[in-house]
Amino acid sequence: MNPTWVMGYPTGYEEGTFLALDMGGTNLRVCEIILPEEKGEFEIIQSKYRMPEELKTGDSEELWEYIADCLQQFIEYHHEVEDLEILDKIPLGFTFSFPATQEYIDHGVLQRWTKGFDIAGVEGKDVAGQFEAALAKRKLPVKLSALINDTTGTLIASAYTDDATKIGCIFGTGCNAAYMENCGSVPKIAHYNLPPDMPIAINCEYGAFDNEHVVLPRTPYDIIVDNDSPRPGQQAFEKMIAGLYLGELFRLALVDLHQNKGVKIFEGQDISKLHKAYTLDSSFLSMIEEDPFENLSETADLMHKTLNITANKPELELCRRLAELIGTRSARLSACGVAAICKKKNIEACHVGADGSVFNRYPHFKARGAVALREILDWKKGEKDKVDIRPAEDGSGVGAALIAALTIKRVKDGNLVGIKNAKGMS
Ligand code: BGC
Repeated sequence: MNPTWVMGYPTGYEEGTFLALDMGGTNLRVCEIILPEEKGEFEIIQSKYRMPEELKTGDSEELWEYIADCLQQFIEYHHEVEDLEILDKIPLGFTFSFPATQEYIDHGVLQRWTKGFDIAGVEGKDVAGQFEAALAKRKLPVKLSALINDTTGTLIASAYTDDATKIGCIFGTGCNAAYMENCGSVPKIAHYNLPPDMPIAINCEYGAFDNEHVVLPRTPYDIIVDNDSPRPGQQAFEKMIAGLYLGELFRLALVDLHQNKGVKIFEGQDISKLHKAYTLDSSFLSMIEEDPFENLSETADLMHKTLNITANKPELELCRRLAELIGTRSARLSACGVAAICKKKNIEACHVGADGSVFNRYPHFKARGAVALREILDWKKGEKDKVDIRPAEDGSGVGAALIAALTIKRVKDGNLVGIKNAKGMS
């Protein structure tokens, strides 16, 4: 439960030009966002840069150099060189989608890498400081105004266009949510003596729920996924439900069944491809669950093309059922996270802005999650969904720009709590 120093919702009337940098997982995205006068409107231009796989297990120097290079390329491409010299520093919102503790909004100490990242020299360090040092070397006309989590961005971007939004969630490579709390209910910031009813967004980091393994039953496959990950013992909940792991859970279950003499699947076949860890991603399960044919012919093609396995009908049915189980568990546990926030805040009805590849693309994920919410929150039969999880606005782009705008507004209003480097922000 990390306080984020995002002190309230946007009004819809935020204005200005901002840069946003989104370090998610697969890609690095740089955006320029214009918030015009009109309520809830935005314009965005963006470029995506591939995050080289080696970078994810490299060292911090390479990471920040690469990010600063991409940012520089983007700025030079979209602005004339002469502009750059006279330009005031453009405020930047940096979406860093990993757990960071923040004493200030323009600061954040990485607690631990998640989602398979393992870059040396960043854990326990101030990410904002490292990033700013790379910016300074290039003399870029940019001022880091806010370091944010993707969930907080999603919450704020969705609230910008829909004021019924109370929660922002990501169901993607990783999983997590953010919501708005009252300062008076946050013991971690009690020493600031802030007005108890002042709002502050909390990044729940609930991917780390049940790291102690006392609540959720784990399968042998969950245990292997955890043990073989770069950070065993961390992100227990996330490892059961997030996109990065769904294909791997499926693969491990099939390997186990193949080795189980009583079950006899893929008998006499070369399953060497199936032995390779992380060879299947969640889109493999999506495709199986989407196979419209009674004889599962698309699943058969997929098994053959990807794994060189010729599966018979019962084996195909097993694959389909296994995908359904893994996908359903993911959706239902995801709903538990949302329900927990609703219960804590006594929210009876609200909109939840959700983003991420699993939410947007995994078949039946939304419907399965909605059924689970109905069960947990005990809605009457026939009553329509009161907590409605819906596609979010772009949190890591528009959300980051809005949070930069909200921070600058606070500087102008003289509310400097949780802002380290206000100089150059107003
Ligand atoms: C990270 C969170 C992030 C989530 C979704 C998790 O692995 O710890 O900070 O919000 O992934 O991207």
